[in-house]
Amino acid sequence: MNYLCTMQILDGQLVSRTIKESLKLDVAALVADGKKIPHLAAVLVGNNGASETYVAAKVKACGEAGFKSTLLRLEESVSEARLLSVIADLNKDLDVDGILVQLPLPKHISDERIILAIDPAKDVDGFHPVNVGKMVLGSPSFISATPHGIMLLLEYYKIQTAGKQAAVIGRSNVVGRPMSILLSANSYPGNCTVTLCHSHTHNLKEICAASDIIVAALGKPEFVRADMVKEGAVVIDVGITRVPDSSKKSGFALKGDVAFAEVAPRCSFITPVPGGVGPMTIAALLKNTFTALKRRH
Ligand code: GUN
Repeated sequence: MNYLCTMQILDGQLVSRTIKESLKLDVAALVADGKKIPHLAAVLVGNNGASETYVAAKVKACGEAGFKSTLLRLEESVSEARLLSVIADLNKDLDVDGILVQLPLPKHISDERIILAIDPAKDVDGFHPVNVGKMVLGSPSFISATPHGIMLLLEYYKIQTAGKQAAVIGRSNVVGRPMSILLSANSYPGNCTVTLCHSHTHNLKEICAASDIIVAALGKPEFVRADMVKEGAVVIDVGITRVPDSSKKSGFALKGDVAFAEVAPRCSFITPVPGGVGPMTIAALLKNTFTALKRRH
């Protein structure tokens, strides 16, 4: 039977702000006790426009939450050996709690070797295999920003996940795959029955249409249409693609992986783009940095 459900927006901006404010109070308490405050070191190689924007947003958020941050900028032509030595220094630096090396790196540098060089105790991006392995085993670990942010959003809105069918579209190491593991974990949010869909999935439309929760993380604008979404589903849109739009001053519009206008009326909860998952990634990074400080002291 068809019914009209009341749709609620999952407001990442609001939840992210709430988390930052709570962290700010935690930092103020540390300061009052004369204790060390969290310190994030961000490494940016070259002048990639998107990376510049992301790193600037991370540094700004640190300031808003009362964290210390250091931005280390290196030339596009920097050698891998030099970058490894910068990381070794940050690993040794007792004042630094969290290290992030913004990706992508220039072609001549191996992402893998760089990630492996970061001390797992300071790997607030959760990219090191030690942290990925712990996450898979359900041990305390650093969970990468996007899946962690989505879990925080589900938790904030007290979304029921146990026993639900979840479809995750996209199997990237940073979003889809960890998301599928977290949603199937024996914890809250979790306990879902998860189908991880990808470019070789035959009946993707049917799988999505039978799912209570859809996480779209494939990077194809407006891929998820209304006929792929069950009435009352929870839809999480991770996509954020720049598409040309002459009506905008910037010349582009940001599009999610979900056709929001037609999908939203069918949902119980849905994330907007922008203002959904994006701001949550920053909140998750700050939470990880605070946790790194706590674990080390
Ligand atoms: N590039 C795109 N997303 C991320 C992220 O979450 N962390 C890092 N270090 N680089 C990225």
